[in-house]
Amino acid sequence: MPTPHISASDDAFAEAVLLPGDPLRAQYIAESFLDGATQITNVRNMLGFTGAYKGMPVSVMGTGMGVPSASIYITELVRNYGVKRLVRVGSCGGISTDVGLREIVIAIGAGTDSGVNRARYGGWDYAATADYELLAAAVAAAKTSGHTVHVGNVHTSDSFYNPVADALAIWQRMNVLAVEMETAGLYGIASEEGVRALAVLTVSDHLITSEETSSSERERSFDDMVLVALDALVVDHGQ
Ligand code: HPA
Repeated sequence: MPTPHISASDDAFAEAVLLPGDPLRAQYIAESFLDGATQITNVRNMLGFTGAYKGMPVSVMGTGMGVPSASIYITELVRNYGVKRLVRVGSCGGISTDVGLREIVIAIGAGTDSGVNRARYGGWDYAATADYELLAAAVAAAKTSGHTVHVGNVHTSDSFYNPVADALAIWQRMNVLAVEMETAGLYGIASEEGVRALAVLTVSDHLITSEETSSSERERSFDDMVLVALDALVVDHGQ
């Protein structure tokens, strides 16, 4: 049955879903990387598609920006559509100077200023972490395709324009690799629902060096990240 935010039929989604923030990126992934992709939902223009990659059924669905928006779609995908494996593909701002522009960051865990995981966990601090098998598959896929990959913690922020004056210093002190806006929500829901999740990110800008990617560079690194995520799903599927 359709949900308040997804109009797809019951069996429209594959068990594996890629999650970009931007719905037009979902369309781009479907058209560029999936075979036989069809659009399955468009409520609020939050587009979703199902097709196949290397013979494996896979869906792709936009989430919007931030934990609240992404949590709506992720929760409905899992509870109403039976999705079992979810891989966020998105951009992040580099924090660690070891992390270069356009390189891939795989989030082993996500700290956050969002309250969602404390709400889930009785006010305690939940360790929001990736699924190990998906993570290992993504690291292997990135190495096979020759991409530089960094595995570590990210910070999921509710604020793109962060009001905390020393946020950058705190993240650096704690050796956080990068900042973005959805992963802690994804990992919290996955834990609660007993499904598997991973965030594969590309560094679009660097908060310490102030470097930024051009739009053509962003496209190329986005493609690299999507292929790592899709290959990780295939490798994980075969295990
Ligand atoms: N902050 C939060 N999310 C981001 C950033 C950032 O600087 N860059 C890319 N995604």
